[in-house]
Amino acid sequence: MKRKRRVLALGSIGAAALAVAAVVAGLPSIAQAASTLGAQAAVSGRYFGTAVAAGKLGNATYSSILDREFNMITAENEMKWDTVEPSRGNFNFGPGDQIVAHAQAHGQRMRGHTTVWHGQLPSWVSSITDANTLRSVMNNHITTEITHFKGKIYAWDVVNEAFADGSTQHRGSVFQNVLGNGFIEEAFRTARSADPAAKLCYNDYNIEDWNAAKTQGVYSMVRDFKARGVPIDCVGFQSHFGSGGQPGNFPTTLANFAALGVDVQLTELDIAQASATAYGNVVKTCMNVARCAGITVWGIRDSDSWRTGENPLLFDNNGNKKAAYNAVLTALGAAPSPGPSSTVSTGPSGGLRGVGSGRCLDVPSSSQTDGALLQIWDCNGAANQQWSLTASNQLVVYGNKCLDVPGRATTAGTRVEIWTCNGGTNQQWRVNADGTVVGVGSGLCLDVTGAGTGNGTAVEIWTCNGAANQKWSRT
Ligand code: G3I
Repeated sequence: MKRKRRVLALGSIGAAALAVAAVVAGLPSIAQAASTLGAQAAVSGRYFGTAVAAGKLGNATYSSILDREFNMITAENEMKWDTVEPSRGNFNFGPGDQIVAHAQAHGQRMRGHTTVWHGQLPSWVSSITDANTLRSVMNNHITTEITHFKGKIYAWDVVNEAFADGSTQHRGSVFQNVLGNGFIEEAFRTARSADPAAKLCYNDYNIEDWNAAKTQGVYSMVRDFKARGVPIDCVGFQSHFGSGGQPGNFPTTLANFAALGVDVQLTELDIAQASATAYGNVVKTCMNVARCAGITVWGIRDSDSWRTGENPLLFDNNGNKKAAYNAVLTALGAAPSPGPSSTVSTGPSGGLRGVGSGRCLDVPSSSQTDGALLQIWDCNGAANQQWSLTASNQLVVYGNKCLDVPGRATTAGTRVEIWTCNGGTNQQWRVNADGTVVGVGSGLCLDVTGAGTGNGTAVEIWTCNGAANQKWSRT
């Protein structure tokens, strides 16, 4: 029992520390107000960046806004494979160097975009069919490019857009098709060797909605990388939004990724029609997450945007500030309000052993499907028996599925299930010192049906009675 209390306490301390860190990080912003995006972001230790095209640096309007407002730059196209290595072994860093030189002359930092991407990939790469050849070509490209820019890049988009839309799986690409799932991990390891000081990001679009399959796929990958020590430091959320702006649960997404121990960055923000409210809300989302390191918009003036006709940026075609600009500046200066705490666990996990049965709370067949009903099974330490308690009293398995009472039922005898964590009271549990686990929504105890002890016995909620089939200990 003593051990269980320690585990629970650790979870709460971690959450409290995060909350304090978030508040402290925001303190200076209350006292100071700056008049440009970069300076205002810097007050809270963040950056505000833009994509830059080398060919536009000679345009006075463009460059004057760039150097006045932005302290982070992403090369819009100049560090992509088709420019950098148009034929095998022939490297062209001229356009990228031009942008880096500009950044260095104006005190701006750089994000590196991007080493491994199926887009803007020359056909000599996409036509490779032999795994050894492609592995060598990919690693040589990463090593040569990152080494060339070593010491000049704050963060690299090591792998870009590798997941398929509407799916938890990788998209088809020459890298995926020829090298298999391991290509992402290999790319990150190669990048780390080339420049151990640069932050290494995975970057993608349509991963802002926590309920999207693609978001869950990327989340699982990052969680796995962190668990296995694969080098990853940050996740880039491109944030190409429609006119309504961010999905309502983007704050939850950012909090959950940050809780994995990575920085989060908004890397290519643009919003159709650039509503001031929508822009302000996105900035607030970042401000409310301590590990949101900064925001990059994907271009300066509307005329610089890849989204022709959508006017999605902060400056109009003439370089004048739009209403959205003011909303962004204001939001960057506002004190952070505590955003949603992570809905997934950062605390230690372990088995929950039934005191009466000696067997563990178990998801049958390691199912990850919402609605899978729980049982007891021999304790085996596998992932389908690893439960951790979040600061908001959820018991979480697989990092994002919660112990859940179906349909918020309050009836004794209702079998419990797993369901995607959503913060409901039917997913909150009071784990008591006497070993009982009480549903916050139902007021009933987690119970092994009929005081059974066999593998496969169902687990339900039942009126608390203090019996051994309602007591649980940590393995
Ligand atoms: O420079 C050539 C020009 O010489 C040629 O005549 C002309 C013909 O169309 O093309 C010009 O190249 C264009 C290039 O941008 C530079 O302007 C390409 O066609 C055009 O496809 C390319 O578009 C870029 C796009 O990525 C391609 O994938 C956009 O500028 C760039 O903003 C966009 O950025 C991507 C991010 O890297 C990843 N996330 C999505 C984002 C938006 O698509």
